[in-house]
Amino acid sequence: MTAPLLAALDPQSAFVQACYIVAFSLFILGIRRGTHPTTAKQGNLIAATGMVIAVATTLALKGIGNWGLIAIGMGGGAIVGVVASRRVQMTAMPQMVALYNGVGGGAVALIAWGEFRHFLALGEAIPLDTFVPILFSMVLGSVSFWGSNIAFGKLQGLIPGQPVKVPGQQVLNGLLLVGIVTVCIVLGFDHDSGPSQGLFIAVLIAAALLGNLFVLPIGGADMPVVISLLNAFTGLSAAAAGIELDNTALIVAGTLVGSSGTILTLAMATAMNRSVPNILFAGFGALPTGAAEAEERPVTSIGAQDAAIKLAYADSVVIVPGYGMAVAQAQHAVKEMANELEKRGVDVAYAIHPVAGRMPGHMNVLLAEADVPYEELKEMDDINPEMPHTDVAVVIGANDVTNPAAKDDPNSPIAGMPIIEVDEAQQVIVIKRSLSPGFAGIDNDLFYNEKTSMLFSDAKQAAADIAAEIENL
Ligand code: TAP
Repeated sequence: MTAPLLAALDPQSAFVQACYIVAFSLFILGIRRGTHPTTAKQGNLIAATGMVIAVATTLALKGIGNWGLIAIGMGGGAIVGVVASRRVQMTAMPQMVALYNGVGGGAVALIAWGEFRHFLALGEAIPLDTFVPILFSMVLGSVSFWGSNIAFGKLQGLIPGQPVKVPGQQVLNGLLLVGIVTVCIVLGFDHDSGPSQGLFIAVLIAAALLGNLFVLPIGGADMPVVISLLNAFTGLSAAAAGIELDNTALIVAGTLVGSSGTILTLAMATAMNRSVPNILFAGFGALPTGAAEAEERPVTSIGAQDAAIKLAYADSVVIVPGYGMAVAQAQHAVKEMANELEKRGVDVAYAIHPVAGRMPGHMNVLLAEADVPYEELKEMDDINPEMPHTDVAVVIGANDVTNPAAKDDPNSPIAGMPIIEVDEAQQVIVIKRSLSPGFAGIDNDLFYNEKTSMLFSDAKQAAADIAAEIENL
């Protein structure tokens, strides 16, 4: 067996520390490259290379023991990961991220429990500067594991996506949190005696309960923000695990995940003009409102041929994609439609709202999959000044991100949310199946604007029909 030879490196040796520095430098470089669509794939590969170096170095450390279990864990994880990543639909990506994040948190919580039992079995006193990270990683890892499972269940439709609220829930959550902190402080004073094991398990169970109760009252469509927050929790718990295991690569990787998850959470909240507490505690998306009166107001309805004529004779067209394009998987048909327009000399651009769809970068990923040139994607702040000079804005499966109520109605639930100002364009075509509201559950005045023509259809079908009609003009 070569294993004992492999497992020979001293964890504190300069070689091991150098390998870890190379590994986390690659993580940072990978994240940096991941900030732009043209370099994102390369960034992923760079970060993955860093992870291979970190894992290989750790496996070669002295004292790494049970090779059979390690092989089963790595082999099983690799098979599940490869199959799931290849099969997952783009629209199911948020729940897949939730699952991956959850198992990360769960693993950290189990490592903390294992470390605690290890010290007890050795009969050694646990130094406080090791015990505090053990408790921290166990609580946060457990909250993240259970919260992520609920997020997965909501997005996968296994449990109701609407906020599940019971009276006094926030008070119960508050009491659980206070209880966990109190028992942790007690354990801080006495964690080496027999009863401390029981208290430790009690904290583990309370953290599991808190993870479940914390996510259940949050609406399904707010899950991307919650997953990002739980991701930050997992990162911080992993960093604490790095401190308890004295592993530099884990400390840096955990801190990177913790900070990037926090930044992403705040960026999404800002793009929706909502505070993080509002997302976590307001039960947004409980009941759609405004759908009833939507039926009663007149709209202008057109077919694919009329839409094709409006678009083909325009000088400039801005395409505004949203969640419906993702659901319909319409990105290739939309690109085909844009190709037909460009063949006729029409200037085509895509307006990307930061929270269009259901996950960060959702539209960018779909349009990149359809080979839409990156230069044609315009961010909200860049495209809005162009809107008054745009002949036709085509809204494809988007709703809330174009709703003028955000700027005109201070009482609207989305008041203050920055929008793509399609109502400023000369003409608007909205492609969706009905007048139903989007995620925010509110009616959209854009549909009743005299400039707007509604094309009621599945987005993929409509884009393909329009492309065919333009070709035949
Ligand atoms: P939404 O406002 O949710 O509207 C999507 C529209 O797509 C629906 O009104 C629906 O209308 C239409 N649709 C569904 N399936 C369709 C199909 N097959 N063909 C054509 N249309 C279809 O989407 P949005 O404008 O992209 O806004 C995103 C919302 O999600 C925002 O409120 C945002 O705050 C929220 N949110 C986003 C994120 C991130 S990170 N992106 C995170 C949390 C929350 P019909 O049923 O009539 O077809």
